Amino acid sequence: MTLRIGVIGAGNIFEKGYVPAFEQTDALRVTVVHDIDPERAEAAARRLPDVRAVGTPVELLDRPDVDAVFVLTPTHTHADLAIAALESGKDVLCEKPMARTTVDARRMQAAAERTGRRLMIGHTRRFDDRWTSLFEQIRAGRIGEPVFVSRSEHASNGAPAGAWQWRDEQSGGVLWDVGVHVAELFHWFLGDTPRTAFTKVLRARPESRAGGAPDAAIVTFDFGSSRHALLSVSWIHPPAWGPFYATTEVVGTTGKLESYDRDSHPAIVVTDALELPRLSPLLSALAGTFRRQIEHFALAVETGAPFAVSLEDALMAVDMVDAAERSAASGRPEAVRP
Ligand SMILES: NC(=O)c1ccc[n+]([C@@H]2O[C@H](COP(=O)([O-])OP(=O)(O)OC[C@H]3O[C@@H](n4cnc5c(N)ncnc54)[C@H](O)[C@@H]3O)[C@@H](O)[C@H]2O)c1
Repeated sequence: MTLRIGVIGAGNIFEKGYVPAFEQTDALRVTVVHDIDPERAEAAARRLPDVRAVGTPVELLDRPDVDAVFVLTPTHTHADLAIAALESGKDVLCEKPMARTTVDARRMQAAAERTGRRLMIGHTRRFDDRWTSLFEQIRAGRIGEPVFVSRSEHASNGAPAGAWQWRDEQSGGVLWDVGVHVAELFHWFLGDTPRTAFTKVLRARPESRAGGAPDAAIVTFDFGSSRHALLSVSWIHPPAWGPFYATTEVVGTTGKLESYDRDSHPAIVVTDALELPRLSPLLSALAGTFRRQIEHFALAVETGAPFAVSLEDALMAVDMVDAAERSAASGRPEAVRP
């Protein structure tokens, strides 16, 4: 069976993550696309065969040739669009973070429960060979009990001034946009709920100060007396730094795992620009990640099997960054689930 997908939001992640994924699979195909910008919708419809552009979400949700909906829009719009799709009887794959607020995330969870439709959040790390292989080693006991995880993702952000990524109420800045990936990774790797988050954020670049969205954050998560995790994310680095030059370290009671994104995305810096042997169009994900994610969604919807990343996992990631955001404001450690 080929699952017929209506796409809402045809920007960067549609182009770089999803178009290549759809080109590599027969399990799903896009039939309809809507974007609030009609020119983007028309352009998106031309990117894949036999796709129709429509002018409103309602038109998309009413179409009989849409089995499921992908919500690929800015974070603050996820909740209303995903809830409308669930209420129209469609299953939904929604980009991360699940929502901009914990209130919106729980509205989405309630809509999925009320309608009985499936809702998955696109936590791509769960489908990326780098992280699944680290997780397998942890699960196999290769390093004993994990006691410390650290992950840093430092990049430049090329979004223009005023774009939604720089507006705090729309994106939450790098803390929510990138930090939610890292928080989800900690929860996944340690298999537990952190008690508290303690945070320091910066608003370093002019775009960040204008829009209020932090562009650097350091957070410690306390997982109890013997385990903790350290998150460091930023958008303040110059373009020549290279996107997603990140490190991961997992220390266990009997060993240690390390992973450097530089190994999977080797780069050559030339003066003020960067040349990348592109292993995948999107530097935050290895090639095949988005294809595996959408094929997993299609199979789980068809068979009724649970999603690899549950709604509870996605809610936990949102609760973790929410606690980190509250800590940045209060200057004190804040409980993750008070
Ligand atoms: N999984 C990943 O690795 C990853 C990477 C990048 C972005 N994302 C997530 O994907 C989402 C989109 O990010 P992006 O980089 O593609 O942003 P973008 O700004 O490039 O694209 C968003 C698109 O949505 C459209 N849009 C805005 N509001 C809309 C609405 N109400 N209805 C319909 N269309 C609307 C815009 O016109 C634009 O075309 C964000 O939630 C982001 O966090 C995930």
